[in-house]
Amino acid sequence: MHSLRRRGQVVLGLGFAVAASSVVAAGAALLVESGMSPGDFVVCLAPISTAAQQPAVHPSLKYLGNGSCTGSKCHSGEAKDQSGHLIGDEFTIWQEKDPHAKAYKTLSSKASGEIATKMKLGDAKAANRCLACHSTQVPAAQRGEKWKIEDSVGCERCHGASEKWKEPHQKAGWTEAERKKGGADSLNKNWGLIDTSDLAVRGTMCVSCHLQIDQDMVEAGHPTLKFEMYDYNNYHFAKQFRPHWDERGGPTSAAKLWAVGQAASLAAATSKEAASLKPLVAVYQAGVQVVKSAFGSGDAATLSAMTMTKEQAIKAANELAATGDAFKSGAENERARKIIASGVEGLVSACVKDPDKDLSDEFWAASETARKASEGDAWLAALKRMTSFAK
Ligand code: HEC
Ligand code: HEC
Ligand code: HEC
Repeated sequence: MHSLRRRGQVVLGLGFAVAASSVVAAGAALLVESGMSPGDFVVCLAPISTAAQQPAVHPSLKYLGNGSCTGSKCHSGEAKDQSGHLIGDEFTIWQEKDPHAKAYKTLSSKASGEIATKMKLGDAKAANRCLACHSTQVPAAQRGEKWKIEDSVGCERCHGASEKWKEPHQKAGWTEAERKKGGADSLNKNWGLIDTSDLAVRGTMCVSCHLQIDQDMVEAGHPTLKFEMYDYNNYHFAKQFRPHWDERGGPTSAAKLWAVGQAASLAAATSKEAASLKPLVAVYQAGVQVVKSAFGSGDAATLSAMTMTKEQAIKAANELAATGDAFKSGAENERARKIIASGVEGLVSACVKDPDKDLSDEFWAASETARKASEGDAWLAALKRMTSFAK
């Protein structure tokens, strides 16, 4: 059954190999929409997502540790069909193929040592300022027996502290039934479970690390952050990475990921006074304009709940490519060019039934050119080439 397969298990089109070379690029400031302070923005964007108030880690519930998810009948065995989803091999995939599994180990690298020294933080592996994003660091009182700092960005960092939900969620259908009762909000409030199937909730969770860097860290040498929800959720970075889930929404889920991601990213990038994020604010603002025009709303929760059509995705792909003109040159816009190129790729791939089969090598080659984010007209031409497949 087509929908029951893990992403990355099938041989994908060029797209996967292509993105392998995507790397972080440097950026400099662009003008942010004037007359609006970051505070104002947060206020007016606050209702976009019920998850906006979600703390980075839960304030009181216990984190039981990866070790409590790994039973062979649970998440480190064979994947089996459970109510239409393949469940059972997530820990194995995470351990072998997920960039987050090595986030803690990264803090032992030479580069981390240099950043920590410049910031006078001592050992990066013991510095809370690094552990906040590179591990599942919580206060001692919230650590279950199996909790370990080596769990890195572990299961509960994204799915929520499991003290209350670990037992009940083992019963088939429990999560679905709770979701039906009160949605993602009540799963979080009553159980501490972060509902990653709700894209607004997921987006807020991803950007809580992926767009929240402090400026002094970037000045000390931390890679500048860049985030595009479609791209990052497909782990489009290196051949060895692979997500441990399948998107539930079919091909148009790529469009939804892109649209929700623009709203969540704009809210996050605007809430942080970091000069290194400013060039991205302009990109996400342009993106949100396109989202509103093509999907009729800029609200992450509304976008997450709606059914998107192929026609809407085509419109968005064309309008997004047209924003490229403003970002086509300048080293400070290099991250912008990558973010826009991956968005166009996601939107076009949402217009076809099966991107791996229905988009030709020519499309993926154009995408590769665009993702290289070289300057100028060649980049714009590559975007145009990509959108010519949107039909
Ligand atoms: C707790 C913070 C945190 C959260 C939440 C988080 N990430 Fe990450 N992510 C990181 C860190 C840290 C790295 C870098 C890992 C390393 O190389 O050490 C990373 C790396 C990645 C990479 C690889 C990037 C590259 O250039 O190699 C992808 C893709 C990614 N994350 C996607 C996601 C997605 C999608 C979500 C939400 C579903 C998410 N992340 C949530 C912290 C986080
Ligand atoms: C706000 C969240 C956040 C904080 C705080 C943070 N990082 Fe990161 N770090 C990330 C993310 C996200 C990435 C991956 C970026 C990407 O590829 O998109 C990353 C990547 C890195 C990388 C590059 C990893 C690689 O595989 O090339 C190093 C090194 C690093 N971080 C070290 C540190 C150190 C040292 C600290 C503390 C001084 C720190 N980080 C604090 C989020 C964070
Ligand atoms: C970087 C964030 C992140 C981390 C870390 C993470 N997950 Fe996930 N997980 C997700 C996202 C996003 C989804 C997709 C959600 C959906 O559609 O329901 C997901 C889906 C799942 C699913 C449903 C799979 C499916 O195909 O429907 C299971 C089960 C799961 N994760 C277990 C785990 C386990 C066990 C760990 C630890 C080994 C883990 N996750 C670590 C983000 C994460």
